Amino acid sequence: MKNIIVEVENEIAVVTISREKSLNALNSETLAELKECFENIAARKDVRVLILTGAGKKAFVAGADISEMVNATPAEGRKMGMLAKEAFMLLETMPQVTIAAVNGYALGGGCEISMACDIRIASDNAKFGQPEVGLGILPGFGGTQRLARLVGKGRAKEIIFTCDQIDAQEAYRIGLANKVVPQDELLDTCKSMAEKIMSKGSYAISLAKEAINTGLETDLASGLTLEADLFGLSFSTADKKEGMTAFLEKRKANLTDF
Ligand code: CAA
Repeated sequence: MKNIIVEVENEIAVVTISREKSLNALNSETLAELKECFENIAARKDVRVLILTGAGKKAFVAGADISEMVNATPAEGRKMGMLAKEAFMLLETMPQVTIAAVNGYALGGGCEISMACDIRIASDNAKFGQPEVGLGILPGFGGTQRLARLVGKGRAKEIIFTCDQIDAQEAYRIGLANKVVPQDELLDTCKSMAEKIMSKGSYAISLAKEAINTGLETDLASGLTLEADLFGLSFSTADKKEGMTAFLEKRKANLTDF
């Protein structure tokens, strides 16, 4: 892969978008590589958490690549949007837990890819925003959909219509970032959260993720039925037997299903 680096260690995959000279902007080639990478990781049993970050200290991802889009036709623009949709949906729905380590600018497509992750941890220099309407386009990699779902309709409209950059503390205040940490602690914080998550039942977490993701896109009664179905499914696992037996025997559970 030319534009991304994938390192797997202790069941954590760190995926780094690496186009530092253009602040890790997403061109079509990078989107295609990310799509392939997410497809591969989703199928791996030896990866339980994916951490997504950007190369360097300045940017997570500064958006879709403007130099590629400047001369693109409507058909090419749509193709790029659909490629991002496919790649980001894979990221959003993979059974593994995904954490965006937002290490600087997360603008446009950068804010959008972070929102396809389960959790966003921001470094104190991070800046989120959707500057697209200032470029004469609208957010095209999920911004109009995922931002409104995360921070509410009114705030999403303000962010998209004004193009204001939001600093890390404000992102935390409105629920866009889960946590803010000093930049040199960012990756370690993400890894220790990953380790805490991996000490729980990974299969149960993947079912909970599915229940949350699918349930939020449906009515309450259907979401609750889906939850009951997946709750029942979790009773079929070795983890359920081990987790509950360990509790009753007052010992630490050894949960291994994934
Ligand atoms: N696409 C292509 N190149 C980009 C880029 C992008 N999104 N963002 C930054 N770059 C390039 C710059 O052109 C510059 O390249 P050169 O050194 O060759 O001139 C290099 O990265 C460094 O950037 P700056 O000199 O601009 O750095 P700065 O510190 O002055 O500013 C910044 C940083 C505020 C992030 C600024 O680069 C910026 O505003 N970038 C664009 C942000 C943006 O508009 N993103 C949305 C893109 S559209 C989109 O994402 C659509 C969608 O929904 C998918």
